[in-house]
Amino acid sequence: MSTVVLDSVTKVYPGGHLAVDRMSLRAEEGELLVLLGPSGCGKSTLLRMIAGLEEITSGDLYLDGRHANDLVPRDRDVAMVFQNGALYPHRTVRRNLSFPLEIAKADPALVRERVVELSRALHIDETLDRRPGTLSGGQRQRVAMGRAIVRQPSLFLMDEPLSNLDAGMRTELRMEISSLVRALGVTTIYVTHDQVEALTLADRIAIMNRGVLQDVGTPGQIYNDPATAFVASFLSSQQLNLLSATVRTPQNQYIMLDFGLHQITMPWTDPRAYAVSQHTGSQIIVGIRPDGLTPIGEGVDGPFFSGRVRTLEYHGHEWLAYLEVGIPAVPAPEPPHRQNGNGGGDGNGHGDAGGGRIRSMMRRLLATGDERPDQEIAVGSGHHRRADLVVRLGARPAWRAGEHGRVSVDLSRLMLFTVEGNRIDPPRR
Ligand SMILES: Nc1ncnc2c1ncn2[C@@H]1O[C@H](COP(=O)(O)OP(=O)(O)O)[C@@H](O)[C@H]1O
Ligand SMILES: [Mg+2]
Repeated sequence: MSTVVLDSVTKVYPGGHLAVDRMSLRAEEGELLVLLGPSGCGKSTLLRMIAGLEEITSGDLYLDGRHANDLVPRDRDVAMVFQNGALYPHRTVRRNLSFPLEIAKADPALVRERVVELSRALHIDETLDRRPGTLSGGQRQRVAMGRAIVRQPSLFLMDEPLSNLDAGMRTELRMEISSLVRALGVTTIYVTHDQVEALTLADRIAIMNRGVLQDVGTPGQIYNDPATAFVASFLSSQQLNLLSATVRTPQNQYIMLDFGLHQITMPWTDPRAYAVSQHTGSQIIVGIRPDGLTPIGEGVDGPFFSGRVRTLEYHGHEWLAYLEVGIPAVPAPEPPHRQNGNGGGDGNGHGDAGGGRIRSMMRRLLATGDERPDQEIAVGSGHHRRADLVVRLGARPAWRAGEHGRVSVDLSRLMLFTVEGNRIDPPRR
């Protein structure tokens, strides 16, 4: 068992590419910490620096309190599993599992016992005398995991171990990894780009974008109270509604989020009222998940949006509706891409993720959005989204396309960000 501390760890690859930007993070003893982020954001680089396979450009790494930047991999007591868990093709599963212990000159009786025990836990005890070539992808990945943990390392690193498996196998193995690492009590850092995997597996999630740490917390904390608009949108299984609003405080009576064609009022009793009022006269970004909006009839009190139902979309377990409310959508702001030197977040997820470039981009988008609310805008994740409000309707659609629809807004589920994409309200954690 072991703790991992990263203090402002940075990686600049030869040629100047900044892959990891001043990451500060701590994995507690026995914790399953999931490192989540889009492809290319620096997850593997970070994991490889912890394993000692990649040099740390600056900053400090501590394993179990010991400064570890310069420790060679074998002195780190770390085991790693990759996407394609490489196995010895000419050795049986049994020998693949026992080999790390044989090298360590463990007692043969103990080796036999441990291999059998582990193969049972991983449900590969039937395959012990087969060679890797005869196994399914899921079985091979189980053997790779078994081989990594058979030596009982203090730290277990997994780099997208499930991403080559089909969906059913992924779910099955995900549950097993979860119970296995918890039963062993080994500190585990698990890398994935899949938000469902992260939410279901993690004790805590650390989410990165472009080498910069965005947020850290339990799955519930970062899903319900994300530190940045990027985190909010990356963790949404359906498209997140990100809208621009101007904050007004008419006669100081209440707070109004002015969306142009719609206004939503927030009473001073709202816990976030004071923080929001600091932005009076300025634009902010409001995030609403599709399930934070509920279709209602006319004449129901409370905050609402309304518009023509452009189209309905069938997703099997539910319907989504696209409601033309005439409010400009905005893309999730990205942290600036820093090559070397200036800019970037402060590493704790609350930093300046903006700077002048983002601010001017936002102004441009907000301005064009006002004139042409229906235009499609590219967002960072590569989707295109209209300025329609996405509403979750459940298994039976309440509306038909072309009808007028009205949705109530759950104020407590509004997520409020500055135009740079940082959470406005004090964290509710
Ligand atoms: N050996 C390398 N030399 C130069 N650039 C690299 C190297 N390895 C990775 N990169 C770059 O660093 C960034 C982060 O890569 P990586 O850590 O593999 O991301 P992830 O695992 O999150 O997909 C990417 O832009 C990638 O192209
Ligand atoms: Mg990777």
